[in-house]
Amino acid sequence: MKNARITIIGTGYVGLVSGTCFAEVGHQVLCVDKDPHKIETLRNGGIPIYEPGLEEMVRRNVAAGRLQFTDSTAEGVENSDIIFIAVPTPPQPDGSVDLSFIEGVAREIASHLTGYRIIVDKSTVPVKTAEKVAETIRRYCKARVEFDVVSNPEFLREGFAVEDLMKPDRIVIGVGSQRPVTAMREVYEPFQAPIIVTDTNSAELIKHAANSFLALKISYANALSVICEAAGANVQEVTRGMGLDARIGTRFLQAGLGFGGSCFPKDLSAFIQISTELGYDFRLLKEVQRINAEQMDRFIKRITDTLWVLKAKRIGVLGLAFKQNTDDVRTSPAIEVCQRLVREGAMLRVHDPQAMDKARTLLPEGPQVTYLLSQDEVPEGCDALVIATEWPQFAKLDLARTRASMNTPIVIDGRNLFDPAEMERLGFIYKSIGRGS
Ligand code: UGA
Repeated sequence: MKNARITIIGTGYVGLVSGTCFAEVGHQVLCVDKDPHKIETLRNGGIPIYEPGLEEMVRRNVAAGRLQFTDSTAEGVENSDIIFIAVPTPPQPDGSVDLSFIEGVAREIASHLTGYRIIVDKSTVPVKTAEKVAETIRRYCKARVEFDVVSNPEFLREGFAVEDLMKPDRIVIGVGSQRPVTAMREVYEPFQAPIIVTDTNSAELIKHAANSFLALKISYANALSVICEAAGANVQEVTRGMGLDARIGTRFLQAGLGFGGSCFPKDLSAFIQISTELGYDFRLLKEVQRINAEQMDRFIKRITDTLWVLKAKRIGVLGLAFKQNTDDVRTSPAIEVCQRLVREGAMLRVHDPQAMDKARTLLPEGPQVTYLLSQDEVPEGCDALVIATEWPQFAKLDLARTRASMNTPIVIDGRNLFDPAEMERLGFIYKSIGRGS
């Protein structure tokens, strides 16, 4: 199974990037998506998402004949040794997870199975999903074939997906029997990462537990930022001082606007919901959610405290994506800031290096929101400038030009990109997160 025939069902962030990275290390990959337009785009060399390094890698592997696209699940099941499921698992209004795409794919695989396959779930799912997938395939498969269902959660971050996939910290393989273990180890061997083989329920829990813990770290830093503001201390110094203790680690301790995106908020709600179903009230994680929501409220209050009336104020906003290096605006704190400012009657001038097209679907077009192609144009005539996403290029803003072009030189930085002393020296009224101002 060194050069496995791999089928990936679902060409979103996880499916497309994993498929491409599997091809990169020599496997034969077929990506399946039921959306024929997406398949058409991919076949023509287009990439439906922005992810650094992905486009070249797709092109290289398509040219080498290792990466192909189809809208036929039957073809995918037929031409594979291993089938990865990487379809969306969106949240439902009560916080639980909508597993209908997973169930639909399991049924489709079942209807095309003619011989032994390893079926791997890569989507983020609640504990016990692998058992349900196996049950579904067994129920809907007319032929008498053997198969194994494996849980193999993915830990990539958007914006760093290729890097995270090519150099993973660990690979988790959850199995119900020993049969698929050798093949799964071989598929991942080229990535040279520690491999943890466990049962499917533990594998599924590892994913929810890891994301919830990372969200907890961020909420911890955000809670500290409140204390730091009240005490006149600097949260960046405090978290660095903590994080250099190897048992704690410096990463994911960046205080800011709170976490967003399509994973942390959804996975936290799901994990809380599952815990309740399993008889445990996970109050710690409810507090993580509460701190995150309050951090946003506090930021908006800081803007209104500084500007007083927002109606007809001109506010520049740098950043629309939920984090740097992506065009993803799903549950983006930056979009929430914009929506709340618009609701108060502010007139926005916005810029994001990648996310403006996607933001247009969530923010009103027209006089209330002006989209600008250059970050340096955003501050012109503004009563305040808000930093909402941690794109590193925002830290290189032309500050002299910004100061000169603003109506009033107020900068409210939700990502702590600038040095408070320097901003004051340049004549700005500068407010940031947890740094004594
Ligand atoms: C997250 C996890 O980091 C991945 O390991 C996981 O695979 C992924 O979810 C998933 O479940 O698919 P992602 O949502 O892409 O990845 O992005 P992160 O880099 O984790 O950032 C999430 C949010 O937290 C962003 O809004 C970011 O701005 C915020 N954040 C992150 C902070 O506010 N402070 C930090 O120190 C780090």
